[in-house]
Amino acid sequence: MRILAAVFLVLAIAACQSHSTLYQQLGGADGVDSLVTRFMERIGSDPRIAARFADTDPARFHRLLSAQICSISNGGCVYDGDSMAQVHAGMDIRPAEFNALVEDLISAMNDEGLPQAVQNQLLARLAPMQGDIVGH
Ligand code: HEM
Repeated sequence: MRILAAVFLVLAIAACQSHSTLYQQLGGADGVDSLVTRFMERIGSDPRIAARFADTDPARFHRLLSAQICSISNGGCVYDGDSMAQVHAGMDIRPAEFNALVEDLISAMNDEGLPQAVQNQLLARLAPMQGDIVGH
């Protein structure tokens, strides 16, 4: 009987999670804020790409990246920055640099203790942007 109750509880929790938005699973506004802060720390100490951000305004980057993550994770925000193609135009970003940034994001998500399934969902929503970011 106890085992049945435990199984039921696990199923109920799983069902509950599948109904919550990715934004909620990222921890809502506080979770995204904290994730972006960690991500920026990781980027800033990554010798493969840190120099790319030497002239970037950290507060603006934090605000726009948070809005974008909120938007693509169904958090209800509107990302009102320029398109990914416009933002990264002329930077000639290499695939290896894109991969480095993704690795930094994964490290930041691990730092935040986000479950693998949640991490994979966020990565899956960012991956299609690669074509607009790399090689322009
Ligand atoms: C999925 C991957 C990426 C996403 C979602 C993303 C998103 C963003 C966002 C939202 C901004 C702020 C927009 C703005 O300043 O107007 C930004 C700016 C920037 N991104 Fe990316 N980015 C990605 C990949 C990369 C990569 C791989 C690099 C280079 C290694 C890069 C370099 C930059 C730089 C240097 C800026 C600042 C531009 C400025 O200061 O004017 N990004 N990115």
